[in-house]
Amino acid sequence: MSAEIKVRRQSSRKRSRDRRISHLTPARKRTSASGRQCPDNTGQIELSRALDKSMDATFSEYCSDPEDLFGDYDSIVSDSSFLAKLDRVGQNMRQHDIDHTTSSRCPVILLAGNPDFTSLKSSTDNCPKQSCDDSMTESFLEGFTDDAFLDMPSSQLAFLQDPQTADRNCCTDEDKTSMPMRHPEKSVSTEERNERHIAPKARKSVSDHLKRAMMANAATPSSVSRTAVQKEAVVTEEISVAMQAMESVSMATTDLGPFFGLPTKVKELICNLKGIKDLYEWQKTCLNLDSVQQRRNLIYSLPTSGGKTLVAEILILKELLCRKKDALFILPYVSLVQEKVRGLASFGLELDFMVEEYAGSKGRFPPVKGRGKRSLYIATIEKAHGLVNSLIETNRLDNVGLVVVDELHMLGDGSRGAIIEMTLAKVLYISKSTQIIGMSATLGNLQDIQKFLKAESYTNDFRPVELKEYVKLKDSIYEVDPKEEECFRFSRVLNFKYSSAMQKIDQDHIVALVTEVIPSQSCLVFCPTKKNCENVAGMICKYLKEDFIQHKQAEKAVLLGELRSSGNGCLCPVLKKTVPYGLAYHHSGLTSEERKLVEEAYSAGVLCLLTCTSTLAAGINLPARRVILRSPYVAADFLKRSQYKQMVGRAGRAGIDTHGESILILQDKDKVLAKKLVSAPMEICKSNLMHSDGKGVLSLILSVIGLNITNSLEQIRDFMSGTLLSVQEKQVCLERSLWEVTQECVELLKEKGLVTVSTEPQDGSLQVTKLGRATYKGSVDLTYCDLLYRDLSKGLESLMLNSFLHLIYLVTPYDMVSQCKPDWMVYFRQFTLLSAAEQKMCAAVGVSESFVARKAAGQNVKKNVDQVVVSRLYLALVLQSLLKETDLWSVADRFQLSRGLIQTLLSSSSVFCSCVLHFTEELEEFWPFKALLTELTRRLTYCVQAELIPLMEVAGVMERRAKQLYNAGYKTLAHLANADPNVLAKTVENLFKKQANQIVASAKVCPLSNA
Ligand SMILES: Nc1ncnc2c1ncn2[C@@H]1O[C@H](COP(=O)(O)OP(=O)(O)OP(=O)(O)O)[C@@H](O)[C@H]1O
Ligand SMILES: [Mg+2]
Repeated sequence: MSAEIKVRRQSSRKRSRDRRISHLTPARKRTSASGRQCPDNTGQIELSRALDKSMDATFSEYCSDPEDLFGDYDSIVSDSSFLAKLDRVGQNMRQHDIDHTTSSRCPVILLAGNPDFTSLKSSTDNCPKQSCDDSMTESFLEGFTDDAFLDMPSSQLAFLQDPQTADRNCCTDEDKTSMPMRHPEKSVSTEERNERHIAPKARKSVSDHLKRAMMANAATPSSVSRTAVQKEAVVTEEISVAMQAMESVSMATTDLGPFFGLPTKVKELICNLKGIKDLYEWQKTCLNLDSVQQRRNLIYSLPTSGGKTLVAEILILKELLCRKKDALFILPYVSLVQEKVRGLASFGLELDFMVEEYAGSKGRFPPVKGRGKRSLYIATIEKAHGLVNSLIETNRLDNVGLVVVDELHMLGDGSRGAIIEMTLAKVLYISKSTQIIGMSATLGNLQDIQKFLKAESYTNDFRPVELKEYVKLKDSIYEVDPKEEECFRFSRVLNFKYSSAMQKIDQDHIVALVTEVIPSQSCLVFCPTKKNCENVAGMICKYLKEDFIQHKQAEKAVLLGELRSSGNGCLCPVLKKTVPYGLAYHHSGLTSEERKLVEEAYSAGVLCLLTCTSTLAAGINLPARRVILRSPYVAADFLKRSQYKQMVGRAGRAGIDTHGESILILQDKDKVLAKKLVSAPMEICKSNLMHSDGKGVLSLILSVIGLNITNSLEQIRDFMSGTLLSVQEKQVCLERSLWEVTQECVELLKEKGLVTVSTEPQDGSLQVTKLGRATYKGSVDLTYCDLLYRDLSKGLESLMLNSFLHLIYLVTPYDMVSQCKPDWMVYFRQFTLLSAAEQKMCAAVGVSESFVARKAAGQNVKKNVDQVVVSRLYLALVLQSLLKETDLWSVADRFQLSRGLIQTLLSSSSVFCSCVLHFTEELEEFWPFKALLTELTRRLTYCVQAELIPLMEVAGVMERRAKQLYNAGYKTLAHLANADPNVLAKTVENLFKKQANQIVASAKVCPLSNA
């Protein structure tokens, strides 16, 4: 059965691809024209399967043969007539050089008379004496600053470093083939250098000749030639033609310099901006792998803090600078995306490419064309999916030469994992030339993922900083050693003197453990719940000596001031108590501003300890000498091996610490499970397309049809065979085959009115309906698409535009409803404050004043009221207050909700608002929403006074900083982009020079607007 599928897949894939390419645009038009599905009726059709909440819409994928992936790579070699010409010239030149090497070795080659380069010849007349070699060399090198070398191929650079040798060898050894540079960082021998110089194919050798000729000509003293005056004009013209030719050659070449094919400037930037002087051996090996050189897909897996990011960044720069293609960098969290945008903006500025943020509601679909510049898209998982879809739709996916996925193990992470899988599968299927690189520290089943991505793998257990793992049981510390039978080897008894009262409160001796390292070194304490984070931070402070208060007192006072001003005068009571001791908690209950301030203060050593939940576990580069795991649980669940590894991996980060250690606090009852935890292999990363009763597959199929990637069941089957789900069919699908699942899903989509069969005679192809198109384009959860359509239709009948309330209600995320229970008294008070028009609108959606009043009075209400509507309207009231006041703290106070929840509500509403905007754009009947929701998305995204919005377009600039900048006179993006970072740092309070640099660089590379 499976063999049969395989055979068919091969052939039908080709068919499907042909069909896809040739029919893409017309079919799409056809679909929208014939999408006769009446959305009004679709609400009656229920999915026969329970579709869970909170999953973004999905799209399609597929993969091709590995060799197909590089079909058009380096095609310039084969068919450029110019290169053919150059080859001929090369042959002539080589012949010429061989003829002249021994007799008249002369660096001066005049380009005589013939503009088609076919009669290059040396002029003995103009040839200086043998002894002029040195002076010539010096004189022509003098004219070049380092910058002049940046665009040169490595071979050319080698030549310039040693022109005499290079020249000699260039002329004599013509048969060497192109080889990747194996050890570009090592000092190379003359032979190696020569070899490298000669190595590139004939066209490079010719380009070297041309360049040399020009340089030499330019350096030739005019007095040498008797006919110089007459020849000058000819020479000038020749040089100009040769310059043009050189430019064409350097456009075609992918080798721009000695640093893994990149200019030396990149190395300098890495040194200056990241403080990294030399690459680790594994990084060099990895960058020189054949698979990397030949642009095959690659997964590399190294321990935490192994330095994986730098390799990815160098490959991204190669793609942008050498291959002149766009690149997509996918990271799991908004904060990581913003950190990366800030970090790479300076590279973009120096190396002339755009850095575009795709996170939250930022990022345009399809991206704005880069006005001649290449773009690096840095995106969250969800945004990357939307971006890839929009590029497929506009036939631009081929422009993306490289997709990098950080934390690739997240493929196994619920609905987000499903989205990564869909994105990658689509890239594999659609763009044969796009390379995919994935990295992770915790991938258990590399083989499955390799098979899915048709990738090679590289693994290494290098960790630059030693990490020692310990567990604590009672008062003893044991070193983790999975090789030992017991797994734990006794190390020491913990040294502490506790009073009996303290023993009661701090039974796990956390104070003793942390005071071994703080305040001089830093410590992270992972806790199972948010509340526990706050409690533990408070408890530790209770037992810390007053000395801790004196440590970095002034900086901590500044931090407290900033925290207070970020809350418009409000300060979290827990932080108020803990910060003076150098401690803070960090979890999703903080506002974005607080989080950022806490992270920055911890990185700078102002805070020495953070208690945190697992959200700090992945990817973030916060330094910790010691990581303590308060218990082996996340909420009520025992830790997974990969979670454990990520958490302990925060200790001992390269460049920050010399070593690191982790201590897992255990109770006797957890000992057996803990042994497994520290010694078992990493968990298997499973496909999540079947997550939530197959919602991933449903969404995927919808988008595959919508994007015109497939139009028949056969093609969908073919497409699905390229997913990770297909690789793991037996493990994941269990009772049914993937084929059966696929068929069922197509039927469900038809029943739900999202997909239909063409009624054109003899067509019978599958098409998405208008609602189907709106759903996948808006990334709207399939569970809610009917409801959203109904709500919007109803809203349109009596849209209340006197205030934002009605619009806000329509974009309040359905999946936030369950997270909030209205406080009826607050509800009633707020309701009474509404205008008459607003109250009328509330009644129209189904919440009357009398209902709220009765609830507030504690009466039972018999009337059948939709609880979802009631709660959603409550959240809308919260959001409306936020938009009016922009003060998260006072709104939290008024509605008796935590500020963390309000922050989450605000960010998810801005994301959902942009989803609804895209949804309505596909349905003509919703035309009025376009302008309204565009503005609302913008307001929800920033939720600040309108004048601060342009400044907040810059990655990482939040309200408080925007206010400071605005007050300092930097009122627009252009002001910031043209600012002098030194002046900025001096003018704006508590802004470090490095931050000022990042702000200016980010402003410069920021596309002018985001939607
Ligand atoms: N060659 C190098 N020399 C010195 N420091 C380096 C080098 N390469 C990377 N680093 C530094 O090592 C630290 C960790 O690197 P990175 O964040 O890439 O780790 P990682 O492998 O991605 O770890 P994780 O799996 O935890 O995300 C960073 O601060 C980075 O700047
Ligand atoms: Mg990393």
